[in-house]
Amino acid sequence: MRIGIPKEILPEERRVAVIPDTVARMVKAGMEVWVESGAGKRAYFSDEEYQRSGARIESRLESLWGEADVVLKVQRPIFDETRKRHEADLIREKATVIGLLFPMLYPEIIVKLNARKVTAFSLDCLPRIARAQSMDVLSSMSNIAGYKSVIMAADALKRLFPMMTTAAGTIPPAKVVVVGAGVAGLQAIATAKRLGGVVTAFDTRPVVAEQVKSLGAEFVSLDVPHGQAEDAGGYAKELPPEFYQKEQEILRKHTKDADVVITSALIPGRRAPILITEEMLREMKPGSVIVDLAVEQKGNCTFSEPGNVVTHHEVTIIGTLNLPSRVPIHASQLYAKNVLNFLNHLSPDGKSIRSDRNDEIIKGALITLNGEIVHPAVKETAKSKAIAQGV
Ligand code: NAI
Repeated sequence: MRIGIPKEILPEERRVAVIPDTVARMVKAGMEVWVESGAGKRAYFSDEEYQRSGARIESRLESLWGEADVVLKVQRPIFDETRKRHEADLIREKATVIGLLFPMLYPEIIVKLNARKVTAFSLDCLPRIARAQSMDVLSSMSNIAGYKSVIMAADALKRLFPMMTTAAGTIPPAKVVVVGAGVAGLQAIATAKRLGGVVTAFDTRPVVAEQVKSLGAEFVSLDVPHGQAEDAGGYAKELPPEFYQKEQEILRKHTKDADVVITSALIPGRRAPILITEEMLREMKPGSVIVDLAVEQKGNCTFSEPGNVVTHHEVTIIGTLNLPSRVPIHASQLYAKNVLNFLNHLSPDGKSIRSDRNDEIIKGALITLNGEIVHPAVKETAKSKAIAQGV
């Protein structure tokens, strides 16, 4: 089985799907690995390192994409502005592509891949079950984003983070509020604690209280009964509008004294709830900082702008996208390990790809097969988009 690793061409993307160490493991398992020349450069992995691990370095894109049985990507295939062609048109018919395709957001790319009868697996659709934990790219990336959010907040903050006792007086520690204590939020709590902050955290799911406390933060209950807070898969459920108003009132008492607010409240498949309003911003301390991780789902803060840093009422609101790409070495390392675990699951013999939809992991991540969009929700989205466009 031949694996192709192209260079990521989305301008802000520095990660690469597979690092040299992973190549060595693939080669050992009997796979042939072709890496595009320069694919790892922005994550500081050189062509020579890939070659030493057993990869062939390929600079002809037609060969790399067109002769691979499986193409491993980080980002979805996109239009290549330099070469004036779409990556999806380079892939061989009936080949397999694996990456973070976000098919509900970009159904047009799925339609394109499907037209070439490509088998597409989207790692963001993997079920968050125990068996799939070693493949869970979203958790790996959220961990990194949680860490990086606090580092960015500390850098933008006009005060110091840790308590300092000096001959010139004592500086109190930064007060940090974390809203949403999922994967990203828990890592943000741990990082803020390590920097010396005093952390208060909120989540609608009462089950996270113990984890928050074990990291040394205070947990403020939002009084949501367990059954109302989460679904059978352990994810947060959407709550009635009055709840969010009540939550804003509770948060407000804490955000007005905070130096840093990290928001990561997410309900899968929904727009992120607005939890920080203009009124709350107005009461916040001048020079304080909000990092809105939920900006990928339109944000938890009224003024967040995806991809931008803005200032309102003297509060800096950071809406930077794709934080993992800002830590490309370790983000690529974790991504590559997750992707290898997934590949081994799909292909235990290293020779061909399984598409057995009785397997829960495959069923969740498989989007297209043999010229059919097989993922029900994606199929529905692609259909309604086509109708809306009059196709
Ligand atoms: P997760 O599902 O593990 O955590 C989300 C948490 O929010 C859950 O614990 C949930 O109970 C909580 N929540 C939901 N509604 C809430 C509310 N009203 N109040 C308080 N808590 C609430 O998700 P994960 O992986 O931690 O991701 C969190 C956010 O970070 C997502 O929006 C994700 O897209 C974003 N993210 C952003 C990145 C970036 O580069 N900007 C990178 C990775 C993740």
